[in-house]
Amino acid sequence: MYASFKSIGSYVPQGTLTNKDLEKMVDTSDEWITKRTGIKERRIARDDEAASDLGVKAAKIAIKRAGITSNQVDMVICATLSPDYLTMPSTAAMISKKLGIKNVMAFDISAACTGFIYLVSIAKVFIESGNFKNILIVGAEKLSSIVDYTDRGTCILFGDGAGAAIISSTDNIDEAIIDVHASADGNFGDLLITPGCGSKNPIREENVKEKLQYMKMAGNEVFKVAVKTLTNDVIDILKKNNISANEVDIFIPHQANYRIIEAVRMKLNFPLEKTAFTIAKYGNTSSASIPMAMNDMYEEGKIKKGDLMLLDAFGGGFTWGSALIKFAGN
Ligand code: COA
Repeated sequence: MYASFKSIGSYVPQGTLTNKDLEKMVDTSDEWITKRTGIKERRIARDDEAASDLGVKAAKIAIKRAGITSNQVDMVICATLSPDYLTMPSTAAMISKKLGIKNVMAFDISAACTGFIYLVSIAKVFIESGNFKNILIVGAEKLSSIVDYTDRGTCILFGDGAGAAIISSTDNIDEAIIDVHASADGNFGDLLITPGCGSKNPIREENVKEKLQYMKMAGNEVFKVAVKTLTNDVIDILKKNNISANEVDIFIPHQANYRIIEAVRMKLNFPLEKTAFTIAKYGNTSSASIPMAMNDMYEEGKIKKGDLMLLDAFGGGFTWGSALIKFAGN
C-alpha cells in the first residue's frame, strides 16, 4: 500500500494588514519591509474566527477535490502553533467536530513552520500501515493572536490562513509520495520562541505583562541557519532519490522571506516561473504557508496530475524538512 497526495485546498481570511498599515503601528517602512522580506501585505482573521474555523474551510475544499465525503476521512491531523485552545481540546478535534467527522483519531502536532512537511510524513506512514484510507491533514494558523504588534522585528512577517490536503491509499506506485525528510534540533529553541503561557513560564500576571505569550525571534540568526539548512536538505533529498533539480516540475518552499527562497532557488538553479511565491500577499503563515502556496498554483493551473513537487520548510524548534511528492489529484 502506498500513500498518495490526492488534493489541496486553502482558506484566506478577508482582512488585510498592509505595510502602510504597519507604518502607523511601529517604526518601519513599506520600503524596508519589501526590500528585506518581499512582503507587501498579510491576511488577518476576524476576532470571532479561530484556527479551526480557517482550517475547516480549507479542509472542505480538499475533501471535495479528493472526490470523497467527510465520513470517508479516517484520521484528522492538524499542525498549528496558534491552536484554538492552549492545551485542549485539540484544533484537530474542533475541525473534526465542525466537519461532522466522528469516531476517528484527531490530534495536533507542534512543528512550527515545518508543520506541513511533518504532517505529510506522519500521514504517509499511517497510510502505508494499511489501516487507513483517507487522512485529512491541515495547517491552520491565526498567528495574529500570538504576534506582538509593538515588535517591529516580528509583526511585519506573520499572517493568518489555512491549507489542507487529503493523503489517500493507493496500490499504484506511480502515484506514491516519493520521500519525506523531517528533522529537528532543540539546541536552537531560544532563537524563535513563545516563551510564556506554557508550563515553563505559566500564565501569570508578571509573565503576561512582559508579553511572554508572544513570538520572539532573533531574526538575523534564524535567517542564516534557515538558508544553510534548507539548501543542504533540498540537495540531500534530491540526491538520495537520484532526482535532478530539472526533473522537478514545481518548487514550493515555505514562505518566510523572499530572500531565503531566492537563496535556495539560486543554489538549485531552479527556474523562477516554477517556484511558488505567495510571500508578498500572505506573509509567513507558518504551517499553512506551503499548502496555501500549493493551492494558489493549483488554481492557476500550474500543478497537474503527475507533476513532481519539491517542498521545503524551516521553523521554530528548530525544525526543518523537505518532501518529493507526485501530485495525484485531478
Ligand atoms: N523596520 C525597519 N527596521 C527594522 C525592522 C523593521 N521592521 N526590523 C529590524 N529593523 C532594523 C534593525 O533594528 C537593524 O537596525 P540597526 O542596523 O540599526 O541595528 C536593521 O534593521 C537590520 O536588522 P536585521 O535583523 O539584521 O535585519 P535582517 O536583514 O536580518 O532582516 C528579518 C530582518 C526578520 C526580516 C530577517 O532576519 C528574517 O527574515 N529572518 C528570518 C525570519 C524567519 O524566517 N522566521 C521564521 C522562520 S520560519
